[in-house]
Amino acid sequence: MQFSIRAVSPEQAKTACLVLGVQGGETLPRSTQAADKAAGGALRRALAAGDLAEKSGSTLLLRDVAGLAAERVLLLRLGERGKYDVSACREALRGLGAALKGLGAKDAALFIGDLAVAGRSLPWAVRSAVLGLREAFYRFEQLKTQKKPAPSALVSVTLAIAGAPITLQARAALKEAVATADGADLARTLGNLPPNLCTPSYLADEARKLARQYKLGIEVLERKDMERLGMGALLAVTRGSREPPKLIVLRYAGAAKKKKPLVLVGKGITFDTGGISLKPGAEMDEMKFDMSGAGSVLGALRALAGMRAPVNAIGLVPSCENMPGGAATRPGDIVITMSGQTVEILNTDAEGRLILCDALTYAQRFEPAAVIDIATLTGACVIALGHVATGLFANDQKLADALRAAGEDAWDRVWQMPLWEDYQEQLRSNFADMANIGGRPAGSVTAACYLARFTRKLKWAHLDIAGTAWRSGREKGSTGRPVPLLVRYALRQAGRP
Ligand code: BES
Ligand code: MN
Ligand code: ZN
Repeated sequence: MQFSIRAVSPEQAKTACLVLGVQGGETLPRSTQAADKAAGGALRRALAAGDLAEKSGSTLLLRDVAGLAAERVLLLRLGERGKYDVSACREALRGLGAALKGLGAKDAALFIGDLAVAGRSLPWAVRSAVLGLREAFYRFEQLKTQKKPAPSALVSVTLAIAGAPITLQARAALKEAVATADGADLARTLGNLPPNLCTPSYLADEARKLARQYKLGIEVLERKDMERLGMGALLAVTRGSREPPKLIVLRYAGAAKKKKPLVLVGKGITFDTGGISLKPGAEMDEMKFDMSGAGSVLGALRALAGMRAPVNAIGLVPSCENMPGGAATRPGDIVITMSGQTVEILNTDAEGRLILCDALTYAQRFEPAAVIDIATLTGACVIALGHVATGLFANDQKLADALRAAGEDAWDRVWQMPLWEDYQEQLRSNFADMANIGGRPAGSVTAACYLARFTRKLKWAHLDIAGTAWRSGREKGSTGRPVPLLVRYALRQAGRP
């Protein structure tokens, strides 16, 4: 789908589908008012007849409205009066996406100023509209051979602005939004791919493709490199698998050389059986999403490179499978991590922290401005925060605050959890420097505390996306989160509004 920004008036917009917002109550948004006037009150009459439901996201389609240049008018309920906020706006965009999918219209014009939520800017409305619609139009059906639903007719969307010049900021927001949507799409598709196709080697090939397409630096470390570096924890996880492990290093340089990079580290377990500490069978298929952190890192790099963001960023993806087998790591095994610290692996299903700890140690060589790891790390985080907020842990409060603010901005929200020393004793081991599990209480916190032992020299944050990276049930699938958050964070750090 193509997006553009144009200055047009609602009555003159020559489009297959003119989208006009409607708030609850008497007053209509400006462009809706203007269109209604040109149409001799036809829009108000339709509304007065009660044909548009109250719920935000409801739509009403009118055809051949006299006085308007558009072929169709789609009235879109934004929200009830006084109750229009960011979540109502998201709801409205979801409804709009669903309605547009069902129409024969090839193009649509959406009056973006009408979406404005109090306290949010026009660039914000541009980003929300693009990301919301792209999300609604995302499909993953490359592996279905039959009964493919016909693709939607819609190919282009105009973000229309009436009676105001188009600012450079609005144009920059459009570019950012399209690139972010491309990045989120990549993350979703990688997450949705089955584990027999999306292997560590596949992720490495995807990274190589990105490197070619966007002129990024790339290096893929193999098993022998990991052995040379002493990555005993990562190597312990991959032991049971026939798929070779990979450590992907992808570099985007959009700022001056001397500017320290943001390093993003993504958990890339392409399938998590639990290993010898085998998971129960029900819904085990969902553990193909255990590489969502990796997907979001590749997606964020694609987004930043695609929009030529003025930042330096490095993506680090430790990737392997967690399988049982004759060669697999046993509960009780003790390994030496790249940091030199020893770990007693009491549960082979706590594998994410094992591959991340070596990648985090490796991250130090880039002298990062900050390191953020992204991981579907714990079921406990899903219990704590559900599917709404990503769990945020950080050893630097400024970094935590910046991530929280970026999450609010992108509506890809995080909630900070404690990383207090008091929890560290749960990781005590009788036989090694630490155990890899901390018992049932505060499971997401002790997982983060484990990682904290490898990031003492870094400004570091950890995002537990176990609840937010994918949905289960009928709508099972990857969400592309937290690509919007990561991209917004990087841009805000670079001074972009
Ligand atoms: N990949 C899982 C975490 C997970 C569980 C994500 C459910 C999404 C939904 C992770 O590797 C894992 O198995 N964690 C264990 C840790 C435990 C053994 C300390 C968990 O959460 O049960
Ligand atoms: Mn696991
Ligand atoms: Zn896992």
